[in-house]
Amino acid sequence: MSRKIIIDTDPSPDDSVTFLMALGSPNELELLALTTVGGNVSLEQTTINTLKSLELVGRVEIPVYMGADRPLKRALITAQEVHGGNGFEGYDLPEPTTKASEGFAPDKIVELVMDNEPNSITICAIAPLTNIALAMQKEPKIKQRLQEIVIMGGARSEGGNVTPAAEYNIYVDPEAADIVFTSGTPITLVPLDCTHKALSTDARLEKLRAVGTLHMEAFYHLLKFNRIYDSEKMDMDGGPLHDPTTVAYLLKPEIFKSKKVNVTISKDYEITRGMTVIDWWGKMELPLNTNVLYDLDSEAYYDLVIERLALAGG
Ligand code: BDR
Ligand code: CA
Repeated sequence: MSRKIIIDTDPSPDDSVTFLMALGSPNELELLALTTVGGNVSLEQTTINTLKSLELVGRVEIPVYMGADRPLKRALITAQEVHGGNGFEGYDLPEPTTKASEGFAPDKIVELVMDNEPNSITICAIAPLTNIALAMQKEPKIKQRLQEIVIMGGARSEGGNVTPAAEYNIYVDPEAADIVFTSGTPITLVPLDCTHKALSTDARLEKLRAVGTLHMEAFYHLLKFNRIYDSEKMDMDGGPLHDPTTVAYLLKPEIFKSKKVNVTISKDYEITRGMTVIDWWGKMELPLNTNVLYDLDSEAYYDLVIERLALAGG
Protein backbone atom coordinates (compact mmCIF):
# COMPACT_ATOMS: atom_id res chain seq x y z
CA MET A 1 0.00 0.00 0.00
CA SER A 2 1.33 3.44 -0.82
CA ARG A 3 2.05 6.02 1.86
CA LYS A 4 -0.15 9.15 1.83
CA ILE A 5 1.80 12.39 1.77
CA ILE A 6 1.27 16.15 1.71
CA ILE A 7 4.19 18.29 0.51
CA ASP A 8 4.51 21.81 1.88
CA THR A 9 6.63 23.80 -0.53
CA ASP A 10 8.04 27.12 -1.81
CA PRO A 11 9.40 26.32 -5.32
CA SER A 12 12.60 26.94 -6.42
CA PRO A 13 13.40 24.01 -8.74
CA ASP A 14 14.62 21.63 -6.01
CA ASP A 15 11.15 21.83 -4.46
CA SER A 16 9.53 20.94 -7.77
CA VAL A 17 11.86 17.99 -8.31
CA THR A 18 10.68 16.75 -4.89
CA PHE A 19 6.96 16.65 -5.65
CA LEU A 20 7.46 15.46 -9.22
CA MET A 21 9.55 12.56 -7.88
CA ALA A 22 6.66 11.71 -5.56
CA LEU A 23 4.33 11.69 -8.58
CA GLY A 24 6.80 9.40 -10.33
CA SER A 25 6.56 6.91 -7.43
CA PRO A 26 2.89 5.84 -7.37
CA ASN A 27 3.62 2.39 -5.95
CA GLU A 28 5.17 3.87 -2.81
CA LEU A 29 3.61 7.34 -2.44
CA GLU A 30 0.19 8.92 -2.89
CA LEU A 31 0.45 12.71 -3.09
CA LEU A 32 -2.78 14.05 -1.59
CA ALA A 33 -2.04 17.76 -1.95
CA LEU A 34 0.61 20.42 -2.31
CA THR A 35 0.49 23.37 0.06
CA THR A 36 2.40 26.54 -0.76
CA VAL A 37 3.99 29.11 1.53
CA GLY A 38 5.94 32.34 1.15
CA GLY A 39 9.64 31.45 1.13
CA ASN A 40 12.21 31.49 -1.67
CA VAL A 41 9.88 33.97 -3.39
CA SER A 42 6.46 35.44 -2.53
CA LEU A 43 3.48 33.18 -1.88
CA GLU A 44 1.92 34.21 -5.21
CA GLN A 45 5.11 33.24 -7.04
CA THR A 46 5.68 29.95 -5.16
CA THR A 47 2.11 29.03 -6.10
CA ILE A 48 2.66 29.94 -9.76
CA ASN A 49 5.89 27.90 -9.78
CA THR A 50 4.05 24.91 -8.28
CA LEU A 51 1.27 25.10 -10.88
CA LYS A 52 3.79 25.54 -13.72
CA SER A 53 5.71 22.47 -12.59
CA LEU A 54 2.58 20.30 -12.45
CA GLU A 55 1.52 21.51 -15.87
CA LEU A 56 4.95 20.74 -17.31
CA VAL A 57 4.31 17.04 -16.66
CA GLY A 58 0.52 17.12 -17.22
CA ARG A 59 -0.40 16.39 -13.57
CA VAL A 60 -2.81 19.29 -13.03
CA GLU A 61 -5.24 17.07 -11.10
CA ILE A 62 -3.10 17.43 -7.94
CA PRO A 63 -4.71 20.06 -5.67
CA VAL A 64 -2.57 23.05 -4.71
CA TYR A 65 -3.61 25.10 -1.66
CA MET A 66 -2.13 28.49 -0.82
CA GLY A 67 -1.04 29.09 2.75
CA ALA A 68 0.78 31.76 4.73
CA ASP A 69 2.38 34.66 2.89
CA ARG A 70 4.76 35.45 5.75
CA PRO A 71 6.29 33.91 8.88
CA LEU A 72 4.37 33.84 12.17
CA LYS A 73 6.11 36.84 13.74
CA ARG A 74 8.66 38.19 11.29
CA ALA A 75 8.96 39.72 7.85
CA LEU A 76 9.53 37.27 4.98
CA ILE A 77 13.12 36.91 3.75
CA THR A 78 13.29 35.51 0.22
CA ALA A 79 16.20 33.79 -1.56
CA GLN A 80 16.21 35.36 -5.03
CA GLU A 81 20.00 35.63 -5.03
CA VAL A 82 20.10 31.81 -5.24
CA HIS A 83 17.12 31.01 -7.47
CA GLY A 84 16.62 34.18 -9.53
CA GLY A 85 13.86 36.80 -9.54
CA ASN A 86 10.92 34.43 -10.05
CA GLY A 87 12.57 31.57 -8.14
CA PHE A 88 12.74 29.62 -11.39
CA GLU A 89 15.43 31.26 -13.48
CA GLY A 90 17.32 29.30 -16.12
CA TYR A 91 14.42 28.05 -18.25
CA ASP A 92 11.25 29.89 -19.27
CA LEU A 93 8.22 27.81 -18.44
CA PRO A 94 4.84 29.08 -19.70
CA GLU A 95 2.54 30.78 -17.21
CA PRO A 96 0.13 28.22 -15.72
CA THR A 97 -3.37 27.87 -17.15
CA THR A 98 -4.65 26.41 -13.87
CA LYS A 99 -5.29 28.01 -10.48
CA ALA A 100 -4.86 27.07 -6.84
CA SER A 101 -7.80 25.23 -5.25
CA GLU A 102 -10.14 26.97 -2.80
CA GLY A 103 -9.09 26.91 0.84
CA PHE A 104 -6.27 28.00 3.16
CA ALA A 105 -3.39 25.49 3.28
CA PRO A 106 -3.22 25.08 7.12
CA ASP A 107 -7.00 24.38 7.18
CA LYS A 108 -6.59 21.81 4.42
CA ILE A 109 -3.74 20.12 6.28
CA VAL A 110 -5.99 19.84 9.36
CA GLU A 111 -8.90 18.56 7.25
CA LEU A 112 -6.81 15.90 5.51
CA VAL A 113 -5.15 14.69 8.71
CA MET A 114 -8.42 14.56 10.66
CA ASP A 115 -10.39 12.89 7.83
CA ASN A 116 -7.86 10.11 7.27
CA GLU A 117 -6.95 7.23 9.59
CA PRO A 118 -4.61 8.17 12.47
CA ASN A 119 -0.92 7.67 11.56
CA SER A 120 -1.67 7.46 7.87
CA ILE A 121 -0.36 10.84 6.68
CA THR A 122 3.22 12.05 6.36
CA ILE A 123 4.13 15.66 5.63
CA CYS A 124 7.25 16.48 3.65
CA ALA A 125 8.13 20.02 4.74
CA ILE A 126 10.58 21.62 2.32
CA ALA A 127 10.04 25.31 3.08
CA PRO A 128 9.70 27.59 6.12
CA LEU A 129 7.46 25.71 8.59
CA THR A 130 4.75 28.39 8.89
CA ASN A 131 1.86 26.38 7.40
CA ILE A 132 2.60 23.33 9.55
CA ALA A 133 2.80 25.40 12.74
CA LEU A 134 -0.47 27.18 11.92
CA ALA A 135 -2.17 23.84 11.33
CA MET A 136 -0.88 22.55 14.69
CA GLN A 137 -2.12 25.69 16.45
CA LYS A 138 -5.50 25.39 14.79
CA GLU A 139 -6.01 21.72 15.63
CA PRO A 140 -3.47 20.35 18.13
CA LYS A 141 -4.89 16.81 17.66
CA ILE A 142 -3.03 16.55 14.34
CA LYS A 143 0.26 16.33 16.29
CA GLN A 144 -0.69 12.83 17.44
CA ARG A 145 -2.44 11.81 14.22
CA LEU A 146 0.44 12.50 11.83
CA GLN A 147 2.60 9.51 10.97
CA GLU A 148 5.72 11.64 10.54
CA ILE A 149 7.06 14.98 9.31
CA VAL A 150 10.14 14.80 7.10
CA ILE A 151 11.81 18.21 7.08
CA MET A 152 14.60 19.58 4.91
CA GLY A 153 16.26 22.17 7.08
CA GLY A 154 18.85 23.06 9.67
CA ALA A 155 22.50 22.15 10.01
CA ARG A 156 24.72 20.45 12.53
CA SER A 157 28.48 20.82 11.93
CA GLU A 158 28.14 22.12 8.37
CA GLY A 159 27.17 25.62 9.51
CA GLY A 160 24.34 27.62 7.96
CA ASN A 161 23.66 28.88 4.43
CA VAL A 162 22.03 32.17 5.50
CA THR A 163 24.07 32.99 8.59
CA PRO A 164 27.00 31.08 10.10
CA ALA A 165 24.48 29.37 12.37
CA ALA A 166 21.30 28.90 10.37
CA GLU A 167 19.87 27.20 7.30
CA TYR A 168 17.24 29.08 5.24
CA ASN A 169 14.02 27.12 5.99
CA ILE A 170 14.51 27.31 9.76
CA TYR A 171 16.03 30.81 9.75
CA VAL A 172 13.01 32.35 8.02
CA ASP A 173 10.46 31.23 10.61
CA PRO A 174 12.14 30.00 13.81
CA GLU A 175 8.96 30.41 15.87
CA ALA A 176 7.13 28.04 13.53
CA ALA A 177 10.06 25.59 13.65
CA ASP A 178 9.97 25.68 17.45
CA ILE A 179 6.27 24.75 17.45
CA VAL A 180 6.94 21.82 15.13
CA PHE A 181 10.03 20.49 16.95
CA THR A 182 8.27 20.59 20.33
CA SER A 183 5.07 19.01 19.00
CA GLY A 184 5.85 15.39 19.85
CA THR A 185 5.15 14.36 16.24
CA PRO A 186 7.86 11.98 14.91
CA ILE A 187 10.31 14.11 12.92
CA THR A 188 13.01 13.19 10.43
CA LEU A 189 15.35 16.07 9.61
CA VAL A 190 17.61 16.33 6.58
CA PRO A 191 20.11 19.09 7.40
CA LEU A 192 22.75 20.73 5.22
CA ASP A 193 25.32 18.21 6.51
CA CYS A 194 23.51 15.70 4.31
CA THR A 195 22.25 17.87 1.43
CA HIS A 196 25.62 19.51 0.79
CA LYS A 197 26.77 16.06 -0.31
CA ALA A 198 23.85 15.80 -2.77
CA LEU A 199 25.31 17.93 -5.56
CA SER A 200 24.07 18.50 -9.11
CA THR A 201 27.49 17.94 -10.69
CA ASP A 202 27.92 18.39 -14.45
CA ALA A 203 28.07 14.61 -14.97
CA ARG A 204 24.79 14.06 -13.07
CA LEU A 205 23.05 16.88 -14.92
CA GLU A 206 24.12 15.41 -18.27
CA LYS A 207 22.71 12.04 -17.19
CA LEU A 208 19.43 13.74 -16.25
CA ARG A 209 19.27 15.54 -19.61
CA ALA A 210 20.02 12.35 -21.52
CA VAL A 211 16.55 11.00 -20.59
CA GLY A 212 15.51 13.25 -23.47
CA THR A 213 12.04 14.45 -22.47
CA LEU A 214 10.91 18.08 -22.35
CA HIS A 215 10.60 18.21 -18.57
CA MET A 216 14.06 16.69 -18.04
CA GLU A 217 15.48 19.29 -20.44
CA ALA A 218 13.76 22.03 -18.42
CA PHE A 219 15.16 20.75 -15.12
CA TYR A 220 18.61 20.39 -16.65
CA HIS A 221 18.63 24.15 -17.28
CA LEU A 222 16.91 25.11 -14.02
CA LEU A 223 19.34 23.08 -11.92
CA LYS A 224 22.27 24.36 -13.94
CA PHE A 225 21.26 27.94 -13.08
CA ASN A 226 20.92 26.86 -9.47
CA ARG A 227 24.54 25.81 -9.28
CA ILE A 228 25.91 29.27 -10.12
CA TYR A 229 25.38 30.75 -6.66
CA ASP A 230 26.54 27.74 -4.70
CA SER A 231 29.59 27.04 -6.86
CA GLU A 232 30.72 30.67 -6.63
CA LYS A 233 29.70 31.57 -3.12
CA MET A 234 30.20 28.25 -1.39
CA ASP A 235 32.90 26.72 -3.54
CA MET A 236 30.90 23.61 -4.41
CA ASP A 237 31.09 21.29 -7.39
CA GLY A 238 27.40 21.86 -8.25
CA GLY A 239 24.30 23.16 -6.49
CA PRO A 240 23.04 21.01 -3.62
CA LEU A 241 19.78 19.28 -4.53
CA HIS A 242 18.33 19.80 -1.05
CA ASP A 243 14.61 19.11 -0.92
CA PRO A 244 14.29 15.81 -2.87
CA THR A 245 16.22 14.13 -0.05
CA THR A 246 12.92 14.07 1.87
CA VAL A 247 11.09 12.01 -0.74
CA ALA A 248 14.22 9.93 -1.41
CA TYR A 249 14.25 9.05 2.30
CA LEU A 250 10.64 7.82 2.12
CA LEU A 251 11.48 5.75 -0.96
CA LYS A 252 14.88 4.36 0.05
CA PRO A 253 15.80 5.03 3.69
CA GLU A 254 18.73 2.62 3.31
CA ILE A 255 20.74 5.16 1.31
CA PHE A 256 20.93 7.48 4.37
CA LYS A 257 22.72 7.30 7.73
CA SER A 258 20.73 8.52 10.70
CA LYS A 259 20.81 9.13 14.44
CA LYS A 260 18.01 9.89 16.95
CA VAL A 261 18.85 13.02 18.91
CA ASN A 262 17.35 16.11 20.50
CA VAL A 263 16.96 19.18 18.29
CA THR A 264 16.12 22.55 19.83
CA ILE A 265 15.49 25.69 17.78
CA SER A 266 17.26 28.90 18.72
CA LYS A 267 14.95 31.87 18.30
CA ASP A 268 15.76 34.42 20.98
CA TYR A 269 19.25 35.60 19.97
CA GLU A 270 19.82 37.25 16.60
CA ILE A 271 23.30 35.75 16.19
CA THR A 272 21.91 32.18 16.40
CA ARG A 273 18.41 32.87 15.04
CA GLY A 274 17.07 29.70 13.39
CA MET A 275 19.97 27.50 14.46
CA THR A 276 19.10 23.84 14.95
CA VAL A 277 20.94 23.09 18.20
CA ILE A 278 21.60 19.36 17.89
CA ASP A 279 22.57 17.44 21.02
CA TRP A 280 24.62 14.87 19.10
CA TRP A 281 26.22 13.31 22.20
CA GLY A 282 23.10 13.35 24.39
CA LYS A 283 24.65 15.80 26.83
CA MET A 284 21.41 17.38 27.99
CA GLU A 285 19.32 14.22 28.41
CA LEU A 286 16.47 15.86 26.52
CA PRO A 287 13.78 13.92 24.60
CA LEU A 288 15.07 12.34 21.38
CA ASN A 289 12.61 14.28 19.25
CA THR A 290 14.32 13.97 15.86
CA ASN A 291 15.79 11.37 13.53
CA VAL A 292 18.64 13.31 11.89
CA LEU A 293 19.92 12.13 8.50
CA TYR A 294 23.58 13.08 8.49
CA ASP A 295 25.00 11.27 5.45
CA LEU A 296 23.85 9.72 2.17
CA ASP A 297 25.08 7.65 -0.75
CA SER A 298 25.05 10.53 -3.22
CA GLU A 299 25.29 8.41 -6.39
CA ALA A 300 22.36 6.21 -5.36
CA TYR A 301 20.44 9.37 -4.42
CA TYR A 302 20.96 11.13 -7.73
CA ASP A 303 20.14 7.97 -9.70
CA LEU A 304 16.87 7.73 -7.78
CA VAL A 305 16.11 11.40 -8.50
CA ILE A 306 16.63 10.89 -12.23
CA GLU A 307 14.63 7.64 -12.30
CA ARG A 308 11.58 9.00 -10.49
CA LEU A 309 11.61 12.52 -11.95
CA ALA A 310 11.58 10.93 -15.41
CA LEU A 311 8.35 9.10 -14.46
CA ALA A 312 6.53 12.19 -13.10
CA GLY A 313 4.08 12.40 -15.99
CA GLY A 314 2.58 9.06 -14.92
C1 BDR B 1 16.35 25.24 1.38
O1 BDR B 1 16.18 26.59 0.98
C2 BDR B 1 15.56 26.65 -0.28
O2 BDR B 1 16.14 27.62 -1.06
C3 BDR B 1 15.64 25.27 -0.86
O3 BDR B 1 14.49 24.99 -1.65
C4 BDR B 1 15.64 24.38 0.37
O4 BDR B 1 14.33 24.11 0.82
C5 BDR B 1 17.83 24.96 1.52
O5 BDR B 1 18.39 25.77 2.51
CA1 CA C 1 12.34 24.65 -0.56
